[in-house]
Amino acid sequence: MRIREFRTDDWERIWPFWRRIVAAGETYAWDPATDEPEARALWTTGAGKRVHVVEDAAGGIVATAYVKPNYAGPADGVANAGFMVDPDHGGHGYGRALAEHVLATAKADGYRAMVFNAVVETNPAVGLWTSLGFTILGTVPDAYDHPRHGRVGLHIMHRAL
Ligand SMILES: CC(C)(COP(=O)(O)OP(=O)(O)OC[C@H]1O[C@@H](n2cnc3c(N)ncnc32)[C@H](O)[C@@H]1OP(=O)(O)O)[C@@H](O)C(=O)NCCC(=O)NCCS
Repeated sequence: MRIREFRTDDWERIWPFWRRIVAAGETYAWDPATDEPEARALWTTGAGKRVHVVEDAAGGIVATAYVKPNYAGPADGVANAGFMVDPDHGGHGYGRALAEHVLATAKADGYRAMVFNAVVETNPAVGLWTSLGFTILGTVPDAYDHPRHGRVGLHIMHRAL
């Protein structure tokens, strides 16, 4: 696997699994019907954003992450990040490898901490984040309408870098 910076022409290979993950409505607090231009803007644009992709051995893009300041001005040293692994390639270690890379590059870029604002409490990713040193600062109860679990909470998770 190779982790590298996003290039504009990568988007067409990200969009199919981005759409699938958001349409499932289980992990992101975005409209499941988000269209392609809005998705591209959400994932790849914005002040200070850095986007990474994972290529598998065949050169296909199997995962992506963004990192950006979670707040502005005097609080811009706290990062936020989002992660997506193509569901067809899940469970093969891409998510953990990408997260380790993102944490290292965010620290090298000068961030002091990383915060996830809305981790759906039923998401198996909670275990991944905890194993990487994140803690749950709190949970917004009853916040997320999950298609299988009903209303569940959203964790705010934090890790110093
Ligand atoms: C969360 C996600 C990034 C994990 O990526 P992945 O490549 O499948 O994860 P990995 O193979 O690196 O596994 C990482 C760990 O999480 C666990 N894990 C991952 N997906 C899991 C699942 N669906 N059920 C149970 N455990 C899971 C694995 O057991 C693994 O533990 P280990 O490293 O101790 O063996 C990926 O499932 C994804 O993109 N999900 C949809 C979007 C999402 O939820 N993003 C995060 C929002 S907070």
